[in-house]
Amino acid sequence: MKRLLVLAAAAVSLFSANAQTFPGTKPISFVVPFAAGGPTDRVARDLAEAMRKSMGGGANFVVENVNGAGGTIAATKVAKSAPDGHTLLLHHIGMASAPALYRKLQYKPLDDFEYLGMINEVPMTLIGKPQLVANNYRDFENYIRANAGKLNIAHAGLGSASHLCGLMWQSAINAKDAMTTIPFGGTAPAMNALVGGQVDLMCDQTTNTSGQIEAGRVKVFAVTTAKPLSSNKLLKDVPTLQEMGLKGFDLTIWHGLYAPKGTPPAVLAQINAALKLALKDPEFIKKQEGLGAVVVADKRVEPAMHKAFVASELSKLKPVIEAAGKFAD
Ligand code: MLT
Repeated sequence: MKRLLVLAAAAVSLFSANAQTFPGTKPISFVVPFAAGGPTDRVARDLAEAMRKSMGGGANFVVENVNGAGGTIAATKVAKSAPDGHTLLLHHIGMASAPALYRKLQYKPLDDFEYLGMINEVPMTLIGKPQLVANNYRDFENYIRANAGKLNIAHAGLGSASHLCGLMWQSAINAKDAMTTIPFGGTAPAMNALVGGQVDLMCDQTTNTSGQIEAGRVKVFAVTTAKPLSSNKLLKDVPTLQEMGLKGFDLTIWHGLYAPKGTPPAVLAQINAALKLALKDPEFIKKQEGLGAVVVADKRVEPAMHKAFVASELSKLKPVIEAAGKFAD
């Protein structure tokens, strides 16, 4: 509790020192690289609410969905935005997967952004349309093999988390070209197509799939984390892909917050202090945990730790994607 009070005091002192400049009356925009209603959008809207509170209620946040090209259109927009703290990028693992999939990327993840801190970690689930005959992973994988070339897998664009997961999974089961990939502007529209039976399967974050699984509108076959989600009431008995024989398969999605390079240090410090406080908001934590996500520990909200983590993910994902991936351009 003492730590929370110290954080709150630090945040208030930062805001009062700069209150006359940032954030002022201009809204702070959370640019979300995918369509409204999806997992990334969900994190952004919940975080905006928590940060509105942690900045004393004076700051006005707007969520701007800029989807397309696996999140690279949004990242390019923010990288080229005015570095004044009013345009922030809320992005996920796509920050580290895009360079291995887009040869002509118009930004450099480590050079063109200021790192504001990590937010959460989110497991993924391998799910199918309700009409699929399979009811467990082994039957599901056999069905995929028996229908090679006839099925389609949805994702949110090359470089998206759903695309990366599908790529890694198809490579792990040696079914790289067994399915047609169908890109959407985010996994919210993809989920609508899956529930409606227009696409056959998808890999997506639990923040988007939990509700549909619980309602029986999609079938869940596996989780992508190395360890079972034993504390998750809904998914604790769903096998991991490792348990299903995919050696070493381990994919957890993460979200972070970024500002354009050159944003003033005092503004960055204010936003980081507000983010730290927001991630301790019991309401935000409860919403995240209710959807299978885990809010990161304080040290990972330190900008230097955030940047070091993304740098390590860039190196980790490059060979994984090159071994399994299809280049975008
Ligand atoms: C992804 O697949 O990259 C995201 O889950 C898409 C989204 O947040 O809509």
